[in-house]
Amino acid sequence: MSRTVYTTATSIDGFIADSEYSIDWLLAVDHGGGALDRVNEFFAGVGAICMGSSTYGWSSENNEAWQYEQPVWVFTSKEREKPEGADIRFVKGDVRPVWEEMKAAAGDKDLWVVGGGDLAGQFLDAGLLDEVVVTVAPVVLGEGAPLFPRRVLSDRLTFEGAHRAGEFVYLEYAVRK
Ligand SMILES: NC(=O)c1ccc[n+]([C@@H]2O[C@H](COP(=O)([O-])OP(=O)(O)OC[C@H]3O[C@@H](n4cnc5c(N)ncnc54)[C@H](OP(=O)(O)O)[C@@H]3O)[C@@H](O)[C@H]2O)c1
Repeated sequence: MSRTVYTTATSIDGFIADSEYSIDWLLAVDHGGGALDRVNEFFAGVGAICMGSSTYGWSSENNEAWQYEQPVWVFTSKEREKPEGADIRFVKGDVRPVWEEMKAAAGDKDLWVVGGGDLAGQFLDAGLLDEVVVTVAPVVLGEGAPLFPRRVLSDRLTFEGAHRAGEFVYLEYAVRK
């Protein structure tokens, strides 16, 4: 069955990018050879992707070619350009109709909310998020783009599993709606 999953890497203190919107601190962490297998396994089951404007800016500027084969919905209130041939749809406002479109495109495959944290929070607020999976890096940033700028208490999140991967720890939580 298709799930809607917010999965991202984070610092120990809950930031997914530093105050310069950089993830260089993340790319420097040893992932222990095949340790990204779990992430790659998840990516293989993804049928639709969404992200916010800053994340799109980073992805399109820091990769030579657009890296996603799946359709991608980018939330933005601005006019944006897209790489040639990329299946990208620019959307704004309520996440619910966009989620419906994503579900229709993904079929039985999963929906991946890449980030940022507030966009993931909008899916949570709308009761659309099924899982939160965070990959914790051994890094403390002190400030930056937040993992989840919401108050989400233990009545909403159920621990599902933890795994070590090199210097990273994966934490998996199911969301109670
Ligand atoms: N560590 C990781 O694995 C990881 C994962 C994901 C992202 N990141 C990084 O984390 C940072 C996240 O940046 P961020 O916190 O600024 O979040 P973001 O979600 O990437 O961007 C926020 C922007 O998205 C647009 N937006 C969000 N919801 C919208 C809606 N419902 N309708 C219309 N527009 C909407 C708005 O921009 P407009 O002004 O365009 O309207 C908003 O200012 C980025 O630097 C990214 O590269 C890291």
